[in-house]
Amino acid sequence: MARVLTGIQSSGKPHLGNILGAINPALELAQDSKNECFFFIADWHSLTTIKDAKTRKENVLAVAAAWLAMGFDTEKNFFYRQSDLPEVGELTWYLSCFTPYPMLANAHSFKDKSDKLADVNAGLFTYPVLMASDILLYDADLVPVGKDQKQHLEMTRDMAGALNTQVGKEVLKKPESLIQESVQTIPGTDGQKMSKSYGNTIDIFAPAKVLKKQVMGIVTDSTPLEEPKDPDTCHVFALYKILASADAVAEMRAKYEGGNYGYGHAKKALHELILETYGEARAQYDQLLADPAKIEEKLKAGAAKVRPIAQEVLGRVKDALGY
Ligand code: ADP
Ligand code: TRP
Repeated sequence: MARVLTGIQSSGKPHLGNILGAINPALELAQDSKNECFFFIADWHSLTTIKDAKTRKENVLAVAAAWLAMGFDTEKNFFYRQSDLPEVGELTWYLSCFTPYPMLANAHSFKDKSDKLADVNAGLFTYPVLMASDILLYDADLVPVGKDQKQHLEMTRDMAGALNTQVGKEVLKKPESLIQESVQTIPGTDGQKMSKSYGNTIDIFAPAKVLKKQVMGIVTDSTPLEEPKDPDTCHVFALYKILASADAVAEMRAKYEGGNYGYGHAKKALHELILETYGEARAQYDQLLADPAKIEEKLKAGAAKVRPIAQEVLGRVKDALGY
């Protein structure tokens, strides 16, 4: 049995890129009976960038509702909120004393963020230590992450190794990263990578009007309706291709190439396909968010379920360090 663990930042409302790039691949791992999955909402990490409490709370609920609506089985697996396990904060301190300053100073993601953000706080700098604690506190074996997080996993292994060497035994388990190369980058409404920070998302769980507006707002060129169009340079077609069956894709390709088929028609078809694909999940999501207390209950239950593991591992570390 492999213990698979990953954190999801609660930095906004989940979009199509998050679903196809993160949620679906994680759900696939959870379906494998050889895996025991720990998925948590990294709401302490999100404080590095989101200072407003109301926004952070809304994001936690939205992220939790999205995972639940997409069918994550919280009975079989573990689903919790980072901040409900303050043990992770204590472990962060111990690990930070085994983290060389230059290692953090050389982190790509810190360099990227500190170039872009106005608020370059110490939390952003020590972000990888909290992330290492998230992983080591639960004896994780495998950590599925995007390529951008690979260096954080190497740091996690280094921190575990440094502490283990100091105390002369394997107190912390070194995890492996699972980089999913096959996960494709989902394009946004302007053809760039779909991302909250580019404002080009398709928010699958947004109210019907908003979702429709996003789909109708996909950027296209000005080829007149009558003329044939090139599907391979069209952002509408790029998204349609990801969601539709092979037959439907071939059919739409023929329509583009045949002429008398406008971008408006293609957008309408894409919009219908999105509603068809995610209709049930959207209904589930709305239902979940209508009763936030229930989501809260699930997160609390998840925290209670993982707490014994966190306490056991933290106990090992404290014993070894003489606290
Ligand atoms: P955003 O760029 O919108 O802020 P995040 O960085 O919060 O998204 O991403 C959360 C998860 O979703 C990550 O695992 C990331 O790899 C995945 N993801 C985000 N955008 C895309 C995309 N356009 N295509 C594929 N995966 C994505
Ligand atoms: N840093 C990760 C990201 O931005 C989120 C995260 C926090 C995480 N703690 C983690 C991922 C632990 C894996 C394991 O995507």
